[in-house]
Amino acid sequence: MTETKWSEVDAYIVEKLSPAEDPLNQTLDAALARNRAAGLPAIDVSPAQGKLLHLLARMSGARRILEIGTLGGYSTIWLARALPDDGRIVTLEFSPVHAEVARENILAAGQADKLDLRIGPALEALPTLEKEGAIFDFIFIDADKGNNPAYLQWALRLARIGAVIVVDNVVRGGRVLDAASADPDIIGTRKFFDLAGAEKSWTATAIQTVGQKGWDGFAIGVVEAA
Ligand code: SAH
Ligand code: DHB
Ligand code: MG
Repeated sequence: MTETKWSEVDAYIVEKLSPAEDPLNQTLDAALARNRAAGLPAIDVSPAQGKLLHLLARMSGARRILEIGTLGGYSTIWLARALPDDGRIVTLEFSPVHAEVARENILAAGQADKLDLRIGPALEALPTLEKEGAIFDFIFIDADKGNNPAYLQWALRLARIGAVIVVDNVVRGGRVLDAASADPDIIGTRKFFDLAGAEKSWTATAIQTVGQKGWDGFAIGVVEAA
């Protein structure tokens, strides 16, 4: 199958299961449009993937979500909508420009009451969250892949037992297999897999995906008692 076919099947899935007439989907499409108009890179999760994140967060009964890597808030909106009204999503974004667009999108999606958007390097925000005593039920890691080993370690510290951790972009068109790669994203992803397999405090797998965003994959795991 070609990449074109993968995209066509994605479009079919979205047309059937997330129709464009639904105002909820229109808000999400508007967020994507605003991201592109603002010149943000088109590296948001796909609509089908966003809905998967939403469903996973709902299935896990999450009330407190942590996201590392906000971009324009497309995935943030999907996740925020999985929360009860008194739920909270902390989302970490390095770029003030991205964060500004995200804030607008999340406000337009009616999710501002649940939003705790923190601007700056995630590795500075994460220790602050720990000092605040923050504990999360669901964590989505989707920022600079070179730091994924560190993000996994932080996620495990900030997660409650039974929490779900999802990591985006762990396959990168199969480039994850390139042990000689000099790309920090691939090096980070491979170190992430080493750590993910050695770490006894969670049980994880990874699933390859094809679709509108090409060939990639998610790692997903559940946090175990120490
Ligand atoms: N989760 C988003 C996509 C995130 S793209 C979605 O699916 O809609 C990755 C984001 O991580 C970018 O906005 C980038 O600016 C941000 N980022 C990169 N390095 C970071 C860092 N060290 N700390 C926090 N955010 C970072
Ligand atoms: C990139 C980042 C992402 O989070 C993603 O889903 C796809 C691509 C990137 O940095 O190229
Ligand atoms: Mg991603």
